[in-house]
Amino acid sequence: MAFIDIIISFNTIFLRFIIPVSLKGASYFNLYSRLKLTKSLTFMNNSSPLQLIEHPLFKRHNVEVLIKRDDLIHPIISGNKWRKLKFNLEKVIKNNYKGIVSFGGAYSNHIHALAFACFQSKVKSIGIIRGEAQYANNFTLQWASHWGMQLNFVDRITYKKRNKADFLKQLQIQYPDYLIVPEGGSNALALPGVGEVITELNQECQFDTLLTPVGSGGTLAGLISADNNAHQLLGVAVLKQTDYLEKEVLSLLKNNNSSANNWRILSQFHRGGYGKFQPEDLCRIRDFSQQTQIPFEPVYSGKMLLALLDLLEQGFFPPSHKIVLLHTGGIQALGGLAERKKIKANEWPLPPVPPAP
Ligand SMILES: Cc1ncc(COP(=O)(O)O)c(C=O)c1O
Repeated sequence: MAFIDIIISFNTIFLRFIIPVSLKGASYFNLYSRLKLTKSLTFMNNSSPLQLIEHPLFKRHNVEVLIKRDDLIHPIISGNKWRKLKFNLEKVIKNNYKGIVSFGGAYSNHIHALAFACFQSKVKSIGIIRGEAQYANNFTLQWASHWGMQLNFVDRITYKKRNKADFLKQLQIQYPDYLIVPEGGSNALALPGVGEVITELNQECQFDTLLTPVGSGGTLAGLISADNNAHQLLGVAVLKQTDYLEKEVLSLLKNNNSSANNWRILSQFHRGGYGKFQPEDLCRIRDFSQQTQIPFEPVYSGKMLLALLDLLEQGFFPPSHKIVLLHTGGIQALGGLAERKKIKANEWPLPPVPPAP
């Protein structure tokens, strides 16, 4: 696995979580400076390993659980980020756009990954960030600035207009040579990238159900678009008030002639809302991480994991069911959670702090 050679010592705790890899390379901190910058996407590995999770609970419930380790695609553009950005970046490079403008919150995984991906692809990036300029000093945005992203802070009312046609028209006038990519990277070009998860899985194993966390809906839509109704696809909503999400997914699928009826969004596992969780949730996620040596974070992948554990307790899956979890990455978020004291820094596999500006 060549890309692993450039993976990199997050910190010692993180290393304990990474599946057996050779750690010859540089650090996350200086990763970018060791790679030759090319205006192409050849710096990325395209597929991820599938791993069987051994856990007494799964034996007890007589199910087999595998995890698609998209978090290992790349240490920074990890998880669904690369899947969603891949064809967007390809479009930018092919059509000689100057760069990408996109949207996100102050701790956004998407913004973090986009900044690095654009830096690596030698295209410019502009982040329209919800909130005040003081966030520029936080974990996520310091990294984004470090990789050259221009940060434009907007108030919450302006941010709410991010998908409105008039607002986008104005933005395109302001940045005429840029591709505008929606929040979370969830657009039509995200779907074929995410769909590759299904293509890979079909070559790797047979399974009954796939679970993925859902935020903006692009990942689930991409999976649906490639699955041809072959498996049960369950999206675990990580936020409250998810009524709009199903519509989002359907709207993303509208050009796909999709008649899929094999998917559902589970809205009961948000644990209080986006970025919220209880102390016992953190304990369960950490215990599971320690037992399996797989890193999870409590905003996305951890909520999917807890949903799985709860569903097992409820007897949701029939005996001998084969389940795949999609690990959508997002480990960088731990940096911001520790910074805000939402988690204890010494208990989680934190990525390194950004260099001083
Ligand atoms: C780590 C992680 N997992 C899952 C998701 C949810 O994906 P989507 O927004 O495509 O529903 C996100 C948000 O993009 C994310 O950052």
